[in-house]
Amino acid sequence: MSANRSARSQASLAQILYSQGFGSRRECMGRILDEQVSIGGQVIDDPDAVFDTEGLVFEVQGRAWPFHAKALIVLNKPPNTECSTKPKHHPGVLSLLPLPLRVRGLQPVGRLDADTTGLLLLTDDGTLIHRLTSPKHHVPKVYEAILKHPLDERQLQALREGVVLDDDPAPVRATAAEAAGEHHLRLTLTEGKYHQVKRMVAAAGNRVEALHRSSFGNLSLPPDLPPGGWAWLDPGRSFTDPPR
Ligand code: URA
Repeated sequence: MSANRSARSQASLAQILYSQGFGSRRECMGRILDEQVSIGGQVIDDPDAVFDTEGLVFEVQGRAWPFHAKALIVLNKPPNTECSTKPKHHPGVLSLLPLPLRVRGLQPVGRLDADTTGLLLLTDDGTLIHRLTSPKHHVPKVYEAILKHPLDERQLQALREGVVLDDDPAPVRATAAEAAGEHHLRLTLTEGKYHQVKRMVAAAGNRVEALHRSSFGNLSLPPDLPPGGWAWLDPGRSFTDPPR
């Protein structure tokens, strides 16, 4: 366990609520005085009561919230949602999360197109966003693409050996490209260029009709997470260690 994770930290209930996105300092104080907050089934109406935050679960209006110094969320992105924090044509993915997570400033880790579905990470940890999106760190992402035309060996070979995209003369190659069905391509990429899968497939002579991200590093989309559903992850988890 790292020194950071083993350090115990204490905070007042008002500070805890504020840090977890439950409104302004005044609003958090008001919720506590209004008896909206309980811990272990007991209402706590003292904003200055101090708690150990490690492993703390508190309830606000009956809903349980685990304390997270930094939040990391996995979302099963449904189609027709935008990763932008200022969406233009479709609802933003942030609108799928409860208000406290939006208030504390979660942001998508990289972007998926509006029509792409599947695994999207969101966090308020800027260092983690940088680590997971930097091409230097080579975090593999797996995409399931349904193609217009049948997939053939020549296309797979082009994707593995490298195709040239219009904005860069250097060829871009997939870490892995395999046929999961006659029209189903499974592609593993370590970068995240704009429309990368769609452009690579077009350069290889086919066309993506539907796109889904099934994994990010060692994390697969949890099978019990429905489209639009989300779940907490441990922000200290590694995405590059082999799955345990
Ligand atoms: N590549 C694409 O073309 N679109 C995505 O959403 C992700 C990767």
